[in-house]
Amino acid sequence: MVVLKSPKEIDKLRVSNRIVADILCSLEGEVKPGVDTLYLNDLAEKLAVEKGAKPAFKGYKGYPYSLCTSVNNVVVHGMPSKKQLVEGDIISLDFGVLFDGYYGDAAITVPVGKISEAAMRLTRITREALYKGIEKAVPKGRLTDISYAVQSYVEAAEYSVVRVFVGHGIGSSLHEDPQVPNFGKPGMGAILKPGMTLAIEPMVNEKGYEVDILEDGWTAVTRDGGLSAHFEHTMVVTENGPVILSERNGG
Ligand code: MF3
Ligand code: CO
Repeated sequence: MVVLKSPKEIDKLRVSNRIVADILCSLEGEVKPGVDTLYLNDLAEKLAVEKGAKPAFKGYKGYPYSLCTSVNNVVVHGMPSKKQLVEGDIISLDFGVLFDGYYGDAAITVPVGKISEAAMRLTRITREALYKGIEKAVPKGRLTDISYAVQSYVEAAEYSVVRVFVGHGIGSSLHEDPQVPNFGKPGMGAILKPGMTLAIEPMVNEKGYEVDILEDGWTAVTRDGGLSAHFEHTMVVTENGPVILSERNGG
Protein backbone atom coordinates (compact mmCIF):
# COMPACT_ATOMS: atom_id res chain seq x y z
CA MET A 1 0.00 0.00 0.00
CA VAL A 2 1.34 3.42 -0.99
CA VAL A 3 0.96 5.97 1.83
CA LEU A 4 0.44 9.59 0.76
CA LYS A 5 2.16 12.09 3.06
CA SER A 6 0.59 15.21 4.57
CA PRO A 7 2.34 18.58 4.19
CA LYS A 8 3.51 18.23 7.81
CA GLU A 9 5.07 14.85 7.09
CA ILE A 10 6.73 16.23 3.96
CA ASP A 11 8.26 19.01 6.07
CA LYS A 12 9.73 16.34 8.34
CA LEU A 13 11.06 14.38 5.38
CA ARG A 14 12.60 17.60 4.09
CA VAL A 15 14.48 18.08 7.38
CA SER A 16 15.78 14.47 7.45
CA ASN A 17 16.81 14.57 3.81
CA ARG A 18 18.57 17.93 4.18
CA ILE A 19 20.62 16.38 6.97
CA VAL A 20 21.60 13.55 4.62
CA ALA A 21 22.40 15.97 1.78
CA ASP A 22 24.59 18.14 4.02
CA ILE A 23 26.48 15.13 5.36
CA LEU A 24 27.04 13.69 1.86
CA CYS A 25 28.44 17.07 0.84
CA SER A 26 30.83 17.07 3.81
CA LEU A 27 31.91 13.50 2.97
CA GLU A 28 32.48 14.41 -0.66
CA GLY A 29 34.92 17.08 0.49
CA GLU A 30 36.94 14.41 2.34
CA VAL A 31 37.27 11.98 -0.58
CA LYS A 32 40.87 11.89 -1.80
CA PRO A 33 43.66 9.36 -2.37
CA GLY A 34 44.90 7.88 0.92
CA VAL A 35 41.62 8.28 2.83
CA ASP A 36 40.05 5.05 4.08
CA THR A 37 36.35 4.35 3.91
CA LEU A 38 36.03 3.59 7.63
CA TYR A 39 37.09 7.20 8.26
CA LEU A 40 34.21 8.35 6.01
CA ASN A 41 31.81 6.05 7.88
CA ASP A 42 32.88 7.38 11.27
CA LEU A 43 32.64 10.98 10.07
CA ALA A 44 29.13 10.39 8.67
CA GLU A 45 28.06 8.88 11.96
CA LYS A 46 29.57 11.70 14.02
CA LEU A 47 27.95 14.42 11.85
CA ALA A 48 24.56 12.70 12.10
CA VAL A 49 24.74 12.37 15.87
CA GLU A 50 25.80 16.04 16.18
CA LYS A 51 22.59 16.98 14.36
CA GLY A 52 20.52 14.74 16.64
CA ALA A 53 19.85 12.22 13.85
CA LYS A 54 20.20 8.45 13.97
CA PRO A 55 22.16 6.75 11.17
CA ALA A 56 19.47 4.70 9.44
CA PHE A 57 21.49 1.85 7.95
CA LYS A 58 23.40 0.70 11.03
CA GLY A 59 21.64 -2.42 12.27
CA TYR A 60 19.18 -2.40 9.36
CA LYS A 61 18.76 -6.11 8.55
CA GLY A 62 22.06 -6.55 10.38
CA TYR A 63 24.11 -4.12 8.25
CA PRO A 64 27.02 -3.22 10.57
CA TYR A 65 27.90 0.31 9.37
CA SER A 66 26.27 3.72 8.98
CA LEU A 67 27.49 4.38 5.44
CA CYS A 68 27.73 2.27 2.30
CA THR A 69 31.01 2.87 0.45
CA SER A 70 31.00 1.18 -2.96
CA VAL A 71 34.28 1.51 -4.86
CA ASN A 72 34.73 0.88 -8.63
CA ASN A 73 33.18 -2.54 -9.45
CA VAL A 74 31.15 -2.53 -6.21
CA VAL A 75 27.55 -1.75 -7.14
CA VAL A 76 26.01 -1.07 -3.71
CA HIS A 77 26.34 -1.98 -0.01
CA GLY A 78 30.15 -1.80 -0.02
CA MET A 79 31.32 -2.02 3.59
CA PRO A 80 33.67 0.59 5.03
CA SER A 81 37.18 -0.67 5.85
CA LYS A 82 40.74 0.48 6.53
CA LYS A 83 41.55 0.06 2.84
CA GLN A 84 42.64 3.38 1.37
CA LEU A 85 41.16 5.04 -1.70
CA VAL A 86 43.49 5.32 -4.68
CA GLU A 87 43.71 8.05 -7.33
CA GLY A 88 41.40 7.08 -10.22
CA ASP A 89 38.81 5.24 -8.07
CA ILE A 90 35.14 6.16 -8.08
CA ILE A 91 33.24 5.72 -4.83
CA SER A 92 29.54 5.78 -4.20
CA LEU A 93 28.48 7.07 -0.81
CA ASP A 94 25.00 5.99 0.28
CA PHE A 95 23.69 7.41 3.55
CA GLY A 96 20.44 7.56 5.47
CA VAL A 97 19.19 9.01 8.75
CA LEU A 98 16.14 8.89 10.96
CA PHE A 99 15.18 12.26 12.43
CA ASP A 100 11.94 13.07 14.27
CA GLY A 101 10.33 9.86 13.03
CA TYR A 102 11.10 10.30 9.31
CA TYR A 103 13.86 8.97 7.07
CA GLY A 104 16.31 10.62 4.73
CA ASP A 105 18.14 8.55 2.08
CA ALA A 106 20.45 9.64 -0.75
CA ALA A 107 23.57 8.57 -2.60
CA ILE A 108 26.26 10.16 -4.77
CA THR A 109 29.20 8.81 -6.75
CA VAL A 110 32.37 10.87 -6.52
CA PRO A 111 35.82 10.73 -8.12
CA VAL A 112 38.99 10.06 -6.13
CA GLY A 113 41.49 12.56 -7.52
CA LYS A 114 41.80 12.45 -11.29
CA ILE A 115 39.73 9.70 -12.92
CA SER A 116 39.53 8.22 -16.41
CA GLU A 117 37.21 9.60 -19.11
CA ALA A 118 35.33 6.29 -18.93
CA ALA A 119 34.71 6.63 -15.19
CA MET A 120 33.71 10.27 -15.62
CA ARG A 121 31.19 9.44 -18.34
CA LEU A 122 29.64 6.58 -16.35
CA THR A 123 29.25 8.86 -13.33
CA ARG A 124 27.70 11.65 -15.39
CA ILE A 125 25.26 9.38 -17.22
CA THR A 126 24.13 7.81 -13.93
CA ARG A 127 23.49 11.22 -12.35
CA GLU A 128 21.61 12.37 -15.44
CA ALA A 129 19.57 9.13 -15.50
CA LEU A 130 18.40 9.87 -11.95
CA TYR A 131 17.17 13.30 -13.08
CA LYS A 132 15.46 11.77 -16.15
CA GLY A 133 13.55 9.52 -13.74
CA ILE A 134 12.69 12.33 -11.32
CA GLU A 135 11.26 14.40 -14.22
CA LYS A 136 8.65 11.70 -14.78
CA ALA A 137 7.44 11.72 -11.17
CA VAL A 138 4.41 13.92 -11.88
CA PRO A 139 0.73 13.65 -10.85
CA LYS A 140 -1.28 11.27 -13.07
CA GLY A 141 1.93 9.73 -14.42
CA ARG A 142 2.59 6.06 -13.78
CA LEU A 143 5.30 4.56 -11.65
CA THR A 144 7.07 2.76 -14.48
CA ASP A 145 7.30 5.98 -16.49
CA ILE A 146 10.15 6.69 -14.05
CA SER A 147 11.66 3.24 -14.63
CA TYR A 148 11.45 3.51 -18.40
CA ALA A 149 12.99 7.00 -18.46
CA VAL A 150 15.98 5.79 -16.43
CA GLN A 151 16.51 2.61 -18.45
CA SER A 152 16.17 4.19 -21.87
CA TYR A 153 18.59 7.00 -21.02
CA VAL A 154 21.16 4.55 -19.62
CA GLU A 155 20.88 2.11 -22.51
CA ALA A 156 21.13 4.90 -25.11
CA ALA A 157 24.53 5.58 -23.54
CA GLU A 158 25.36 1.87 -23.94
CA TYR A 159 25.42 1.08 -20.24
CA SER A 160 23.11 -1.26 -18.30
CA VAL A 161 20.81 -0.79 -15.31
CA VAL A 162 20.99 -3.16 -12.36
CA ARG A 163 17.82 -5.21 -11.89
CA VAL A 164 18.15 -6.83 -8.47
CA PHE A 165 18.13 -3.59 -6.46
CA VAL A 166 15.39 -0.99 -6.82
CA GLY A 167 14.29 2.35 -5.41
CA HIS A 168 11.47 2.61 -2.90
CA GLY A 169 8.82 4.63 -1.15
CA ILE A 170 10.13 6.35 2.00
CA GLY A 171 8.59 7.98 5.04
CA SER A 172 8.33 6.78 8.62
CA SER A 173 9.95 3.59 7.30
CA LEU A 174 13.15 3.50 5.25
CA HIS A 175 11.60 1.19 2.68
CA GLU A 176 7.92 1.59 1.87
CA ASP A 177 5.77 0.69 -1.12
CA PRO A 178 6.04 1.12 -4.00
CA GLN A 179 9.24 -0.46 -5.29
CA VAL A 180 10.77 1.79 -7.94
CA PRO A 181 12.62 -0.33 -10.54
CA ASN A 182 15.12 1.34 -12.86
CA PHE A 183 13.88 -0.67 -15.83
CA GLY A 184 10.59 -1.65 -17.45
CA LYS A 185 7.86 -0.63 -19.86
CA PRO A 186 6.21 2.76 -19.28
CA GLY A 187 2.58 3.27 -18.29
CA MET A 188 2.33 0.61 -15.59
CA GLY A 189 2.23 0.38 -11.80
CA ALA A 190 0.82 2.91 -9.34
CA ILE A 191 -0.72 6.14 -10.61
CA LEU A 192 1.46 8.93 -9.21
CA LYS A 193 -0.25 11.34 -6.85
CA PRO A 194 0.75 14.47 -4.90
CA GLY A 195 2.17 13.41 -1.53
CA MET A 196 3.97 10.31 -2.79
CA THR A 197 7.54 10.28 -1.53
CA LEU A 198 10.02 8.15 -3.44
CA ALA A 199 13.72 7.32 -3.20
CA ILE A 200 14.79 6.92 -6.82
CA GLU A 201 18.20 5.27 -7.11
CA PRO A 202 19.63 4.08 -10.42
CA MET A 203 22.63 1.75 -10.23
CA VAL A 204 24.36 1.75 -13.60
CA ASN A 205 27.01 -0.70 -14.83
CA GLU A 206 29.57 0.00 -17.50
CA LYS A 207 29.02 -3.48 -19.01
CA GLY A 208 26.50 -6.19 -18.01
CA TYR A 209 23.78 -5.66 -15.40
CA GLU A 210 24.41 -8.90 -13.50
CA VAL A 211 25.68 -8.64 -9.94
CA ASP A 212 27.08 -11.09 -7.41
CA ILE A 213 26.92 -10.80 -3.64
CA LEU A 214 30.20 -11.49 -1.83
CA GLU A 215 30.55 -13.87 1.13
CA ASP A 216 30.02 -11.04 3.64
CA GLY A 217 26.37 -11.19 2.53
CA TRP A 218 26.28 -7.48 1.57
CA THR A 219 28.87 -6.33 -0.96
CA ALA A 220 27.28 -6.38 -4.43
CA VAL A 221 29.82 -6.43 -7.28
CA THR A 222 29.48 -6.45 -11.05
CA ARG A 223 29.77 -10.04 -12.35
CA ASP A 224 32.04 -8.95 -15.22
CA GLY A 225 34.25 -6.68 -13.11
CA GLY A 226 33.12 -3.50 -14.91
CA LEU A 227 32.65 -0.20 -13.10
CA SER A 228 29.36 0.76 -11.46
CA ALA A 229 27.88 4.09 -10.32
CA HIS A 230 24.91 4.98 -8.09
CA PHE A 231 22.96 8.16 -7.41
CA GLU A 232 19.88 8.49 -5.22
CA HIS A 233 17.50 11.28 -4.27
CA THR A 234 14.45 11.27 -2.06
CA MET A 235 11.69 13.31 -3.75
CA VAL A 236 8.01 14.16 -3.44
CA VAL A 237 5.36 14.31 -6.16
CA THR A 238 3.51 17.66 -5.92
CA GLU A 239 0.75 19.40 -7.91
CA ASN A 240 3.53 21.47 -9.43
CA GLY A 241 5.72 18.52 -10.34
CA PRO A 242 8.61 16.70 -8.66
CA VAL A 243 10.43 18.32 -5.73
CA ILE A 244 13.76 16.89 -4.56
CA LEU A 245 14.02 16.69 -0.77
CA SER A 246 17.61 15.42 -0.46
CA GLU A 247 19.20 18.53 -1.90
CA ARG A 248 21.26 20.99 0.12
CA ASN A 249 19.93 24.41 1.03
CA GLY A 250 20.17 26.38 -2.17
CA GLY A 251 20.60 23.28 -4.32
N1 MF3 B 1 19.90 3.38 -0.16
C1 MF3 B 1 19.97 1.96 0.13
C2 MF3 B 1 18.58 1.38 0.18
O1 MF3 B 1 17.64 2.12 0.13
C3 MF3 B 1 20.76 1.71 1.35
C4 MF3 B 1 20.38 0.60 2.21
S1 MF3 B 1 21.78 0.00 2.98
C5 MF3 B 1 21.25 -0.93 4.25
O2 MF3 B 1 18.38 0.20 0.18
F1 MF3 B 1 22.26 -1.31 4.86
F2 MF3 B 1 20.54 -0.20 5.04
F3 MF3 B 1 20.53 -1.94 3.79
CO1 CO C 1 17.48 3.95 -0.83
